[in-house]
Amino acid sequence: MSTTSAIIAYNSADGKNINWKYKSGIKVREDLKDHEVLVDMHSVGLCHSDIFMGVGDPDTFPRILGHEGTGYVAKVGSKVTSVEVGDPVILSFTYCDECSQCKAGYPGYCYDFIQKNLLGTDTDVTYTLDGEKVGGKFFGQSSFAKRAVVNDTSVVNVKSLNIKKEDLAKFGPLGCGFQTGAGSIYYSGDAKAGESCVVYGLGGVGFAGIMAAKIAGCNPIIGVDTNERKFELAKKLGCTHTIKAGTDEEVHDQIVEITGHGADLSFECIGGSRFVQNAINNANNRGKIVYVGVASFTETIEVPSLAFMTGGKKLIGSTEGDAHPQKFIPKMIEWHSKGQFPVEDLQKFYKIEDFQKAVDDMKNGNVIKPILMY
Ligand SMILES: NC(=O)c1ccc[n+]([C@@H]2O[C@H](COP(=O)([O-])OP(=O)(O)OC[C@H]3O[C@@H](n4cnc5c(N)ncnc54)[C@H](O)[C@@H]3O)[C@@H](O)[C@H]2O)c1
Ligand SMILES: [Zn+2]
Ligand SMILES: [Zn+2]
Repeated sequence: MSTTSAIIAYNSADGKNINWKYKSGIKVREDLKDHEVLVDMHSVGLCHSDIFMGVGDPDTFPRILGHEGTGYVAKVGSKVTSVEVGDPVILSFTYCDECSQCKAGYPGYCYDFIQKNLLGTDTDVTYTLDGEKVGGKFFGQSSFAKRAVVNDTSVVNVKSLNIKKEDLAKFGPLGCGFQTGAGSIYYSGDAKAGESCVVYGLGGVGFAGIMAAKIAGCNPIIGVDTNERKFELAKKLGCTHTIKAGTDEEVHDQIVEITGHGADLSFECIGGSRFVQNAINNANNRGKIVYVGVASFTETIEVPSLAFMTGGKKLIGSTEGDAHPQKFIPKMIEWHSKGQFPVEDLQKFYKIEDFQKAVDDMKNGNVIKPILMY
């Protein structure tokens, strides 16, 4: 048992909102299970899903969120083979590593994905504050805790990449937001040189998608957002065109004007079925539409049945960009080393205690990817 500090998420009385508070004096269980790793966090990126994920069983609150952590291994469980004490790690989502999806190399589609990553199924008492249980293992890591008990499937060992400590934090978002954006273009969308690509929503996910589309040789690359302040950076990182989202018709007309017949590859990363439907309508014949934006559990997508079929369109849902973190994160770091994936252009660093400023800056679009430092 040791003591740590963390941002704790509390459910509001009506269950509709979560409030975050930075607390110290939290007791951490250190008698690790076979496949657990104790990590001293160095940094954690903020992803839209941390803010959105007020959902889940109210009984799982209070709980510790955070899922773009980096840190150093402090202790390992008896069956952990991927890391040793002292190794630098980047943390990603967790998976069972036993089901047929995991065995096939698609851990993002693990049959236990939602349960293990989102819903808060930390049945053990890993953290307590003033005698009350605080849930952990969000995305297998709960990296809003300075010292966290993490599943070994969430751990990507980057020791062999010789990343300096001062550079480690910028790679934390490779664990979720950047992996999702780049993987959605690279794997789910199977982007090809010369394909026209439209990215809807210029957050951390969308910008990673733009960089991957440029690496793949897509042309044109069109970024769509309501916030024009993002357009200069979008052009620097790969967009040939930007569109300020007005009415759905205006967006449609501009995409057709630029592409001729609509987008070959569309990437929706705003969040909501309306945006997916627009992406389908704005797609070229044989167009691929990949979506990752998180909607509510009850939303449905309406597909224009005949036009979709006769157009040969393909609608692809994607979790974490179809990526396998232990393989894809080193690949993105390689892109970065070649200057093709300049993540620093998207980031701003904050002290962990200043998390509220970071959340506000992300919500109002001042910062694409805030990173909290321990
Ligand atoms: N499926 C997955 O595996 C996965 C993984 C990570 C994130 N996500 C989801 O992806 C989405 C994007 O995440 P993010 O961290 O980049 O979020 P973000 O909030 O940083 O970015 C969203 C962007 O959408 C823009 N936007 C809002 N309304 C718009 C509109 N009407 N038209 C055009 N643009 C609009 C915002 O200005 C912002 O730039 C979220 O829904 C997130 O939960 C999914
Ligand atoms: Zn599995
Ligand atoms: Zn995320």
